[in-house]
This record gives sequence, C-alpha cells and structure tokens, in this order.
Amino acid sequence: MIQLKQFQLPTVVQSPMANCTDLPFRLIARSQGMAFAFLEMVSSDALVRETRQTVEMMRTIPEDRPLGAQLVGCDPGVMGEAAAKVEAMGFDLVDLNLGCPVPKVVCRGGGSMLLREPATAEQIFAAVVRAVKRIPVTVKMRLGFSDGSGEEAARIARIAQDCGVSAVAVHGRTREQGYTGSADYEAIRRVKESVKIPVIGNGDVVDGESALRLRRVSGCDGVMLGRGALGNPWLYREVEAALAGAPPPPPPDLAERKRVVMRHIELQVQHDARPVGPLRRVISWYFRDHPGVADFRGRIHRAQTVDEMRELVEAFGDRTHDAGRRTQERDHQS
Ligand SMILES: Cc1cc2nc3c(=O)[nH]c(=O)nc-3n(C[C@H](O)[C@H](O)[C@H](O)COP(=O)(O)O)c2cc1C
Repeated sequence: MIQLKQFQLPTVVQSPMANCTDLPFRLIARSQGMAFAFLEMVSSDALVRETRQTVEMMRTIPEDRPLGAQLVGCDPGVMGEAAAKVEAMGFDLVDLNLGCPVPKVVCRGGGSMLLREPATAEQIFAAVVRAVKRIPVTVKMRLGFSDGSGEEAARIARIAQDCGVSAVAVHGRTREQGYTGSADYEAIRRVKESVKIPVIGNGDVVDGESALRLRRVSGCDGVMLGRGALGNPWLYREVEAALAGAPPPPPPDLAERKRVVMRHIELQVQHDARPVGPLRRVISWYFRDHPGVADFRGRIHRAQTVDEMRELVEAFGDRTHDAGRRTQERDHQS
C-alpha cells in the first residue's frame, strides 16, 4: 500500500483508459482481484457543465470502490471547480491528465501539452490542491512531449510535489511516440530520483515478469496496468504475486475464461444502454491469444445482437484450444 494523505493506494492499480475502463470492465476486474481503478478521463469543462455524457461516464455503484476520477483540461479555475465536484461525488482520489496525446485535447492546451507549459501546470496543480479538502490529488503524465530522457516529467513532478500533489504516475513514453516503441523504465527512474512523493510506473506491463522489471529498473513505488489487463483480469493477481515474490497463480483455462466473458456480457447488458458496440471489442480481447481467434473476431464483429454473441462465445473452440495446447505441449517436449 502507498500512503497518500488519509488514503491507502494499493501498489497495483488500473490506469484510466478511454472507452475501456467502464463500469462493467471495473466490476469484472474487481471480481478477479483488481484493488484500485480509475474512470476514463473526463473533461473538466464538461464536468463543470454536468453534460449528460459526462454524468453517464462517471456512473458508479457502491461495489465499485475504491475509485479515482481523472480530469483533463487546461484552465486552472475550471480544473479546481471540477476537482471539487469529483470530491463531492465521493471519489477516493482525483488525478490530473498530463499524458493524453489526442490532438483534440492537446490542441486545447490540455493532456500532454501541459508537459511543455510548466507555468500553467503549476497553476492547475495549485488550484486543484486548494479545491479539494480530503482526497489526494495525483498527476499522470508521459516522459515528455518529444524528449524521452525523463527530464520534462521530472520537472513537472517536482512542481507537482511543491504544490502538494500526493503522487505521480509516469507512462514511459513521450507524446510523440504515442503507443509505439517500448516504455523506457530507466527514464521513469530519473523521475523517481527527482522527487520524494511516490512514483507509480506505467507502460507495457503484461505479466509478472514485466512488472518486476518495471519496479527493478525504475525503482517505482507502485505499478499501473494498462492495455495488458484488457481481456486479462487475471493479470492483477499475477502481478501482485510477482511483486510479493510468490509463485504465479494458475492461468485460467478456456472454461474459466468463457465464464468470465459471459459475466462481462451480463454486466454490459445491465449497465450499458447500448451494449453491442462495446462488446464487439471486449469479447475479442479475452481470446486474443487463442488459436482460431481471427475468424472468431470477425464473427463477433458481424454479430447484431447480444444473444448471437453469447452463442459465439459458448461455441468458441474447445477443439481448437485443445489442438493449440497439444501443439504447445509437443513444442515443450522437443
Ligand atoms: C484506448 C486507450 C485509452 C486511454 N485512455 C487514457 C485516459 O483516459 N487517461 C490516461 O491518463 N491515459 C489513457 N491511456 C493511456 C493508458 O492509461 C496507459 O498509460 C498506456 O496505455 C500505457 O500503459 P500500457 O502500456 O500498460 O498500456 C489510454 C490508452 C489507451 C490504449
């Protein structure tokens, strides 16, 4: 656990991901051991105006705790006002986005653009820390806009610390890199060495081994999972075991995978007025490493109803799976 103000942040957390970390995703992840999640980023302007879409994006239920909200924006006053709302809504933590590479956000001066605007970033941090009373404020950022040395992030992290921000999370890529190349854990170390507040490392953690490497190389206090957990809610326990030096939990077999997918479908239907679109992506995530998934993905994509999707999941290949496993075993023996 990482102590932040009166709040204990678990060492392994799920990152905010637009169109991915919705309520059904979080509930499934929690059922498999996820200890802390973020909502996807919300625009501070939209939250202050309480647009219908934003209120919907922030919908949660009591079982969906502990939970952090993330704000994106570039106006200190509006960010402060939005952060106060986040606190009043009962979230456990408010995070500020200094990593989003999306042009719509960057062009307005928000997200990763703030890495280049330390004076504005400072005003935002100060306004938000002033605006919330109880909950911790954190900042999630990239290494830099185009400079991958970690210097830009280190400078922003020091400013954040001086303003009273409780912790920073660093994704080991630049804005220019987008999601290409690999996350640089050495550069995250530079940020870690330049501040006293906790640093959470992020980027390319897909199993226990990569989590251990991130912690060893960067010296980070916590590990943030991103894309690796999409369709793999078993990752949280695997990473926690690795960080604790415990043996890995057994991986799920196909039957367990299908059981969890069926539950995910159920939750999507329960909490989403239009579940078919999101489910097209979600279901394929779960089977991405299985033989025969390309054809399956096509079928899921063409499915028009949730019932059709359920049937496809039920029928998804025990035989292909067994064939794949036999091949793996043969390869292992040879
Ligand atoms: C589809 C998608 C949506 C994302 N949305 C957000 C977001 O809303 N806020 C944020 O700070 N980062 C967002 N990210 C970045 C991730 O939180 C994470 O920092 C990044 O994917 C690196 O971690 P990973 O390599 O483990 O995936 C998003 C990434 C992806 C792929």
